[in-house]
Amino acid sequence: QDHLISASHLSREDIEAVLDRAADIDADPAAFRQRHAGKVLGLCFFEPSTRTRMSFDSAMKRLGGQTVDMGPVESSSVKKGETLADTVRVVEGYADALVLRHPSEGAATMAAEFVDVPLVNAGDGAGQHPSQTLLDLYTIRENAGLDDLTIGIMGDLKYGRTVHSLAEALTNFDASQHFISPESLRLPRNVRYDLHASGAQVREHTELDEVLPELDVLYVTRIQRERFPDENEYRKVAGQYQIDSETLDAAADDLTIMHPLPRVDEISPDIDDTDHATYFEQAHNGIPVRMALLDILLSQDR
Ligand code: CP
Repeated sequence: QDHLISASHLSREDIEAVLDRAADIDADPAAFRQRHAGKVLGLCFFEPSTRTRMSFDSAMKRLGGQTVDMGPVESSSVKKGETLADTVRVVEGYADALVLRHPSEGAATMAAEFVDVPLVNAGDGAGQHPSQTLLDLYTIRENAGLDDLTIGIMGDLKYGRTVHSLAEALTNFDASQHFISPESLRLPRNVRYDLHASGAQVREHTELDEVLPELDVLYVTRIQRERFPDENEYRKVAGQYQIDSETLDAAADDLTIMHPLPRVDEISPDIDDTDHATYFEQAHNGIPVRMALLDILLSQDR
């Protein structure tokens, strides 16, 4: 059974299959409207979400299917002490595929061992968020192209699961990756290892202006307060990587600015109405890309 647990498991062919299917869906959504009628997607979110939960829900319904949602942890049997393994074993009986978000790194890998239906990792702590990466790649492909790409990835590179997945997936393409962060929020060792092993072109920076003029894409991320074990460490770096329209004076006219969202203060609203701002388009791409992903996963022989 194929699951989607980590972007490091994705080949260029896997990625292009999803992106091409998403483009087909964008071109003719009506052709997919009854594709998975009668099927059910289980949503198990142990952490807050707006985009991932709602776009998977909407994607499944646009394929003719339905969803069942575990709801907030507080109103589920997790509060009575039910384990993750038991929860997913039960919910797979109610659904044809599962989407799991959990605060613990490795949770999706473990959960996938207990289920026979396809499972999508929708974020495991500071680990991975591969379905976000697929919609990020779709957005990059539409706006800048995926080969001969120079991308800057800025902010919380240590705890940012969208960053880890995107950096690993980009090793399948001719992409030069620039990582911009404070020293204390550099990429974790396992991601560095994967990038190094792939031979990817990678550079690290502390200041955005060292690299901004070269970039085709700037991928901005939130400094994730909730992941810091020590609030004082968060305060040392909070607010350091903010951009506004003045910051962009040195940028290329066709720079694409992305952000997985939610943002707090790292992109000033005065950028929202510029041609650079691509983050709402990026969030909307969650629909065709997650429809494509579900279509492929639900069409597997079981
Ligand atoms: N980008 C993203 O994962 O957003 P949510 O946390 O709202 O799902």
